[in-house]
Amino acid sequence: MSWELLLWLLALCALILSLVQLVRFLRADADLTLLWAEWQGRRPEWELTDMVVWVTGASSGIGEELALQLSKLGGSLVLSARRVQELERVKRRCLENSNLKEKDILVLPLDLTDTSSHEAATKAVLQEFGKIDILVNNGGRSQRSLVLETNLDVFKELINLNYIGTVSLTKCVLPHMVERKQGKIVTVNSISGIASVALSSGYCASKHALRGFFNALQSELMKYPGITFCNVYPGPVQSDIVKNALTEELTKPNKCMDQSYKMPTSRCVRLMLISMANDLKEVWISEHPVLLGAYLWQYMPTWSLWLTSRLMKKRIENFENNLDPDLPYKFLRTKKD
Ligand SMILES: NC(=O)c1ccc[n+]([C@@H]2O[C@H](COP(=O)([O-])OP(=O)(O)OC[C@H]3O[C@@H](n4cnc5c(N)ncnc54)[C@H](OP(=O)(O)O)[C@@H]3O)[C@@H](O)[C@H]2O)c1
Repeated sequence: MSWELLLWLLALCALILSLVQLVRFLRADADLTLLWAEWQGRRPEWELTDMVVWVTGASSGIGEELALQLSKLGGSLVLSARRVQELERVKRRCLENSNLKEKDILVLPLDLTDTSSHEAATKAVLQEFGKIDILVNNGGRSQRSLVLETNLDVFKELINLNYIGTVSLTKCVLPHMVERKQGKIVTVNSISGIASVALSSGYCASKHALRGFFNALQSELMKYPGITFCNVYPGPVQSDIVKNALTEELTKPNKCMDQSYKMPTSRCVRLMLISMANDLKEVWISEHPVLLGAYLWQYMPTWSLWLTSRLMKKRIENFENNLDPDLPYKFLRTKKD
């Protein structure tokens, strides 16, 4: 075979490989490190069995699904949120769908904004199970309102719940993990903690704050290699997040529903478990175009701000006219709707 032919063959292989990677990226529903781990990494079924896992925000959405999938892996669960009846419902679902026994699941009501109760809640978990292997900071609320029309109380509530509440509970659990020299803190952040969007300014701020806090904390705890962190950044996922979003006033319910396509909760949670099993430190779980937006935001911030401002113009207009803010992006909806 001549050298020229060999070079052509090599170039063709490189082209095919690049095309395969491009197709992979276009079909991706998470960052490439996470997808690589899913493809060839450690499975949750091998790594996350027989653990004591404390999940906040377990009464609906991502937290509920996480409780369900964790229950199938065995171990013990602590389910926390404010609505006890909903937590009991989730507990029943877990017991029906797994081999866990009544004693393996503790329903522990908890208001993340009531930081004075967090120490006692932590003691209650330790008393019941003797250890906490994994804390999943998942509870939180979003926002649908414009800055100019939103009371300061709403911004305070978002910071108190999403940021201070999470920091407070983490600080209560950490001394126990430091003492054992092991443990894992999983924090459900959001793509809004990387890239900001209109109508969610206070929510984005609280999630950006979480990002800063946990990245700094990871460095501070380097001397405890057995304590690991996993910061999860989901894009739009099916849940009650929009229904429960805060609005211009603390007591005003949100009537403005987004109806764009969202990732199934079960897929998001499966990817979260893979991230936890593989000790991934930061994962992005989203389909395009939100995933592509996150990459652009990282590498081309000025362009991204320019583009986002233009995309958000119609969204804000619709919101002001009491329409689905995502109407202009109908073309992004997929067959899976
Ligand atoms: N779904 C998405 O598109 C998406 C995208 C990115 C990030 N996230 C993040 O995912 C996490 C879970 O949200 P979700 O989508 O599953 O929404 P969800 O269905 O509304 O669940 C939110 C959970 O947080 C709990 N919660 C709210 N206020 C609380 C408080 N003061 N104290 C304790 N718990 C409280 C709720 O329970 P109670 O009302 O019973 O207290 C509920 O269990 C949030 O941190 C959210 O920011 C969601």
